Amino acid sequence: MDANMQGRIALVTGGGSGIGRAASIRFARVGAKVVVADVAAEGGNRTVELIKDIGGEACFVHTDVSVSAQVQRMVQAAADMYGGLDFAFNNAGIEGPAKGILDSTEEEWQRVIAVDLTGVWLCMKYEIPAMLKRGGGAIVNTCSVMGLIAVPGIAPYIAAKHGVAGLTKEAALEFAKSKIRVNAVCPGSIRTPMVERVMAAGTSEKFLAAPQAIKRLGKPEEIAAAAVWLCSDAAAFVTGVTMPVDGGWTAQ
Ligand SMILES: NC(=O)c1ccc[n+]([C@@H]2O[C@H](COP(=O)([O-])OP(=O)(O)OC[C@H]3O[C@@H](n4cnc5c(N)ncnc54)[C@H](O)[C@@H]3O)[C@@H](O)[C@H]2O)c1
Repeated sequence: MDANMQGRIALVTGGGSGIGRAASIRFARVGAKVVVADVAAEGGNRTVELIKDIGGEACFVHTDVSVSAQVQRMVQAAADMYGGLDFAFNNAGIEGPAKGILDSTEEEWQRVIAVDLTGVWLCMKYEIPAMLKRGGGAIVNTCSVMGLIAVPGIAPYIAAKHGVAGLTKEAALEFAKSKIRVNAVCPGSIRTPMVERVMAAGTSEKFLAAPQAIKRLGKPEEIAAAAVWLCSDAAAFVTGVTMPVDGGWTAQ
């Protein structure tokens, strides 16, 4: 692991599970102090325990990323606990219903957009001023292959993730001059509790892995590695990318 983030401060939303937990642990392994934010307290506290078990430093902040006041408090917690914010991985997300345009209810649509898209915007809205105070920083948003291409039948999620891709590019352009880089990772199918839920609802592992040239599900650690690299100084000239980490899915 080559990045050195000793003494830097990282914030991870959705840090209590799956990709967010793997990224929180990876940030801690390279020396960052980690603010683990999640709407699920049990998972978030468990991630903090796992970081402490490996000698790292972390705290949990209960946060619903779709609620402005909670996002503000989350960013303030990074300042209060550790003195500021250098890196943010805006990763919290929900899969929403497997429904197309006609079947999605307004409530289902609004919830997915609120968490997966508005949540990312709210996080950046409050993280960026904190980063400006430190003279720069790096943000990675979790998008998806579903932010680059579409499949029929998951309309709200695809709309939200395409929004994240666009918002990431806009933010990169707006803040390049302020030394804040903004990128997105676009995971393929990754074995996390989210995908376990999709499989429990009847979708087979083989079906999920089939569009990927590497015929297996990805690991959360493989997305975490990309996210931490994008935040690191090794990626100093990388901004505005929506980087697929998808086993070759979108190469086809
Ligand atoms: N697993 C995949 O195959 C895959 C593929 C592409 C993109 N993604 C994206 O990766 C991200 C992480 O997903 P995962 O697979 O690790 O899922 P996960 O369900 O294991 O973890 C998501 C975490 O986000 C938290 N969360 C949900 N709503 C929240 C809210 N309103 N505020 C704060 N936290 C909230 C959950 O409590 C959970 O801890 C999501 O944005 C998801 O859309 C996942």
